[in-house]
Amino acid sequence: MPANTWSRHHILSLADFTTNEYDTVLKTAASFREVLSRRTKKVPTLQGQVVANLFFEPSTRTRSSFEIAAKRLSADTLNFASATSSMTKGETILDTAKTYLAMGTDIMVIRHQQAGVPQAIAQEMDNLGVKVSVLNAGDGQHEHPSQALLDLFTICTLLDINNPRLELLRGKKIAIIGDILHSRVARSNIWSLTAINAELHLAAPPTLLPKFFADYGQDRPGKLFLHWELESALENADFVMTLRLQKERMTAHLLPSLREYHHLFGITRSQLQLCNANVKVLHPGPVNRGVEISSDLMDDPEFSLIQNQVTSGVAVRMALLYLIGSGKTG
Ligand code: NCD
Repeated sequence: MPANTWSRHHILSLADFTTNEYDTVLKTAASFREVLSRRTKKVPTLQGQVVANLFFEPSTRTRSSFEIAAKRLSADTLNFASATSSMTKGETILDTAKTYLAMGTDIMVIRHQQAGVPQAIAQEMDNLGVKVSVLNAGDGQHEHPSQALLDLFTICTLLDINNPRLELLRGKKIAIIGDILHSRVARSNIWSLTAINAELHLAAPPTLLPKFFADYGQDRPGKLFLHWELESALENADFVMTLRLQKERMTAHLLPSLREYHHLFGITRSQLQLCNANVKVLHPGPVNRGVEISSDLMDDPEFSLIQNQVTSGVAVRMALLYLIGSGKTG
């Protein structure tokens, strides 16, 4: 395992991730994928360490995925859900984090509906001079690094199962379709998918894809294109990532109707004919069946990588916990 080359203490954003860091995550996740294929799917790597999942916002797959990843590494896990916690009695976020620190937490995995909360907790831990690492599991509309890394791992393992690496993306065309404005998944994926000379195409109605997204493509090795209609984004694409319409984050009526949206931007079999013959479809979940993607396509293993993404998520999160956690033992 290449942990001795790893120096990042917190994983908060992919904006400054290096090629080396991407490759280290991919390689480490590949070795954990192998562990997960064994009969005994557990290693003692983080034995004696405590991983606290602090989820201030609802989650199904990310929370469960981090929990099983920590357990497969033999860490002890604590799970916090804000609805059933002392936050309902007025405790602040930082005080909640300090409570978990006092219980001996080594790694905090944090999700919050407001951008910047994991960063603030990481800063507080650093100020206190403690060795606790913080992993951002999704903050508002800002970033969702572990999701983008598992998307990257899913794509790269499909291209070379034995040696997933960033280099494999070179020259590929990837399209991200849907509610980009509200998506932290899209923002993290923009960083990872432009980290090498690939083409990344974003497509959405103008209300969900403001022009400022072009700024994300500045000074990146990959090229970023914006489209306000679907067809040109899909033409010859190798991978198509669809995103959920995040109604809980919409403050205004940004779409005429869901039916209209599906008609113009929904991914269906016939739309995929514009793509490369071997095209694959991704979605971070949860899916609005029949809105951003047709229900039959979602379940078709010939095209859909959605279940592979969930499986990859465990190996990738094991890799992240291992890489930031292994410096703490001994
Ligand atoms: C995403 C999230 O929470 O940002 N889901 C996830 O983590 N798998 C995307 C979404 O909520 O649509």
